[in-house]
Amino acid sequence: MWEGDAPSARKRSAAYAAWRPMHGGTGFVRAGFYRQRGTQWTTEMANPPIKNGVPALEIKNLEAWYGESHVLHGVDIVVQPGEVVTLLGRNGAGRTTTMRAIMGLTGARKGSVKINGVETVNMATHRIAHLGVGYCPEERGIFSSLSCEENLLLPPALKTGTPGMSVQEIYAMFPNLAERKNSQGTRLSGGEQQMLAVARILRTGANLLLLDEISEGLAPVIVQALARMIKMLREKGYTVVMVEQNFHFAAPLADRFYVMEHGRIVEKFGASELKEKMPVLNELLGV
Ligand SMILES: Nc1ncnc2c1ncn2[C@@H]1O[C@H](COP(=O)(O)OP(=O)(O)OP(=O)(O)O)[C@@H](O)[C@H]1O
Ligand SMILES: [Mg+2]
Repeated sequence: MWEGDAPSARKRSAAYAAWRPMHGGTGFVRAGFYRQRGTQWTTEMANPPIKNGVPALEIKNLEAWYGESHVLHGVDIVVQPGEVVTLLGRNGAGRTTTMRAIMGLTGARKGSVKINGVETVNMATHRIAHLGVGYCPEERGIFSSLSCEENLLLPPALKTGTPGMSVQEIYAMFPNLAERKNSQGTRLSGGEQQMLAVARILRTGANLLLLDEISEGLAPVIVQALARMIKMLREKGYTVVMVEQNFHFAAPLADRFYVMEHGRIVEKFGASELKEKMPVLNELLGV
């Protein structure tokens, strides 16, 4: 199932853990993914109304553990609707853990995580996803035995009215995927898999996107396509939180930046402050 960039066992199991609870336990074809406690899936559930002045994501004093290992030590992040925010940091700083903690995928978590004003810290992962959160984990999790198009058609079941992007819209955004629509997941390049992983989330109707290192290890031409995609999503009003190692990818895209170190936020600043923050970033990230 995990083809392409041969992720580590830790990352593989994290990917499976990420998909499973969000999509009903036995794969996301199950009807349960599209319904919430027996109710019809509605547009409103997939795209919670953006309330004036209410952040799309508001994290306060978030702590998270993997077993005994205390990884996040009080993270505070606020993202307004329509913003593109980048979470920077060195390897092991806790960026992936922050995303996993937002989704309720760490061992334990404490603090507050509000999605459009709704407290989720005690919610199960699938309910968090149903608030309109789309998580694209580092490992992508493409189903290699299915074709590119089948991967895109899995999340839908969207005959129930969810306003996810149509396959045609996806193909317009990523012509590469249109060309490769009949190719098996295994045969897609790393870049195509990455596009497909993000596209699959867009099919669900999620409007708060958590993207973990989408540019990692990809050819410059693919990284440029992903940058165009982020710009387009921003124009369409999506809220994006990106974890990035590639500062040069993130710098021109983000409205605001957070820098993590040892499970804490150690810097935050807006795009207009980027220039004056470069010495600090140099020290923290070596960019
Ligand atoms: N499943 C796990 N069990 C125990 N410890 C973990 C687990 N996943 C991550 N950690 C530890 O938590 C810390 C933060 O890891 P995290 O994956 O969040 O870092 P990151 O900022 O995403 O960096 P990178 O992606 O480069 O690894 C690290 O010390 C890591 O070793
Ligand atoms: Mg990571």
